[in-house]
Amino acid sequence: MSREPWAEALYARIRGCTSCALAQTRALAVPGEGPLDAEVMLIGEAPGANEDKQGRPFVGQAGQFLDELLAAAGLARAEVYVCNVLKCRPPANRDPLPGEIDACRDYLDEQIDMVDPLVIVTLGRFSMAKFFPAQTISRVHGRAREIAGCFYVPMYHPAAALHQQSLRAIILEDFRELGALLERARRTRGAGTPARVVGPTEAARLVPALSAVKGASPPPANSAGQPAIQGRLFNE
Ligand code: URA
Repeated sequence: MSREPWAEALYARIRGCTSCALAQTRALAVPGEGPLDAEVMLIGEAPGANEDKQGRPFVGQAGQFLDELLAAAGLARAEVYVCNVLKCRPPANRDPLPGEIDACRDYLDEQIDMVDPLVIVTLGRFSMAKFFPAQTISRVHGRAREIAGCFYVPMYHPAAALHQQSLRAIILEDFRELGALLERARRTRGAGTPARVVGPTEAARLVPALSAVKGASPPPANSAGQPAIQGRLFNE
């Protein structure tokens, strides 16, 4: 199926979803948005109050900060795809429940298959847990792993950095490296690593075994002749 009708059908299913109790308290479901062929996909946690009102992801304060972070990476919001683990707002912005994450899982997996990005950025611990189940964000933030031509990089959630000043510089630095990672991902795919030979569910299952997965190409050198992101990739 081509991407436009796929997205239309998927978003309609999400907007009408009644798979969990959040359907009763949401104003609008928030499927996600961005170019359907985006190279970078960002996955947040769940819609907040503003997103619930507008039906769009990251439109509040965290969204404004996300735009700044993207600018630090040399990216504009209009060129990335943004969505969330949960498509509906949990009351009072509480943490997502396991049953709610399960109810939304297929939607997110389908979005990943549809967009087929080169880089997936997880924002916060709930989206990190999908791909890095046994990790803590303080240990792995900013470090990418590659599976079958797609790079997965966990980042702190922008809202966490808004509330905790010490995280601000850290998340900014992590985003600054995203440009180099995207370059590397382009080279890796360009070098013929097959795109998405595994689906996202399987990729999540494979992540703990990634130490055995070999990167497709050496990291690009920076101006000092050092590999630009070596040591930041923890599958090497
Ligand atoms: N926080 C999220 O995780 N997602 C949004 O869409 C907004 C805030």
